[in-house]
Amino acid sequence: MPHSSVADVYPDQPDAYEWIVGEPAFDPARYLQLEAPDRLWTLEEFGYDEAFVASQASPIAMFSPSRMLSDEGVAALHETISLLKPLVRQAPDSHRISGYLRGTVFLSKFIRDLCRCDEITEFMSGLFGTALAPHTMVYQQGHMNFAPDDISKPVDHWHHDFVGFDYVLMAHDPATVEGGEFKVFMGTREEGNAILERGEELPVERVIAPQFPGAGYTCFMQGNAVFHCAAPLKKPADRVSLVNAYVSLDIDKPDPTRTFFVEASGRYAWLKDEVEPHHSWAEYARHTAWLGREKLTHLLDDLPLDAGREQSLAALRQAASDLERAIKTIDAGPLPYEEMEALRRRQDDDLLKS
Ligand SMILES: [Fe+2]
Repeated sequence: MPHSSVADVYPDQPDAYEWIVGEPAFDPARYLQLEAPDRLWTLEEFGYDEAFVASQASPIAMFSPSRMLSDEGVAALHETISLLKPLVRQAPDSHRISGYLRGTVFLSKFIRDLCRCDEITEFMSGLFGTALAPHTMVYQQGHMNFAPDDISKPVDHWHHDFVGFDYVLMAHDPATVEGGEFKVFMGTREEGNAILERGEELPVERVIAPQFPGAGYTCFMQGNAVFHCAAPLKKPADRVSLVNAYVSLDIDKPDPTRTFFVEASGRYAWLKDEVEPHHSWAEYARHTAWLGREKLTHLLDDLPLDAGREQSLAALRQAASDLERAIKTIDAGPLPYEEMEALRRRQDDDLLKS
């Protein structure tokens, strides 16, 4: 069962979707093999300053890849992926990812149950030392990247994530794929973006490619603070990764969730009737409603009756801040990609001032 505070935020399957038929049932007892990562990197090691580290729900940036799925779990994931493949969307003009599938938790009960699995959530919460829950924007649950049809393009361009915490699970064995490596810049997201915007390459000595020893291995990270990419393939290959996002339940920390309303955006799978539902507005509204509710509950629990004018005002402002940001963001969109990215950066900067 998901954490009680988020359980009612996850919508039921919308009408436009149908469950795939013939997939295995997700069985954590057989399919999980959660093993502790060998090492971790702190936000400080990535170059973030004290103020930024204090604003994040965990001081840890990422862990080295570690095993998540058993051999049986990998086989079951492959079976599910083969049923999902006809729905994969190829978006050759995308700014980020050309081959992807979203809304998977409305298509596959296996993926839904993997993404909301309590054992994984607890394991990941323990690693980062903060309570997490599968993300309240459900299109951020079980996002899947597939090899682009045009292999000259990166599987995913350099970026930082729109969510606080996530993991990248490799469904393929990277040893069988030429190129397509998951790469991480050992610097801040601001520095990474600035280097690329000057038209320069990221210095090779500061880029690492964490080694995934096989299919079923996972890299856990605070994706909003880790500047990363999936490199172009050198040969066509069956490369499939799954990214599952989480919110921190530590609502005293500013919310790192961002969203993207771009013109002509595509977010979901191609469904059988080729209707592409746009749920992102409502998902962001629902995420913000969840956060506002948590903060108002916190206020009712904590604000003493002898709190003065300043303290009462600050408490209300804090509870309303996410609602105000969401209203501004939804009101502004959809925007061209560059304008939305600029808005996102301003919101990231504001996070440190809140
Ligand atoms: Fe990412």
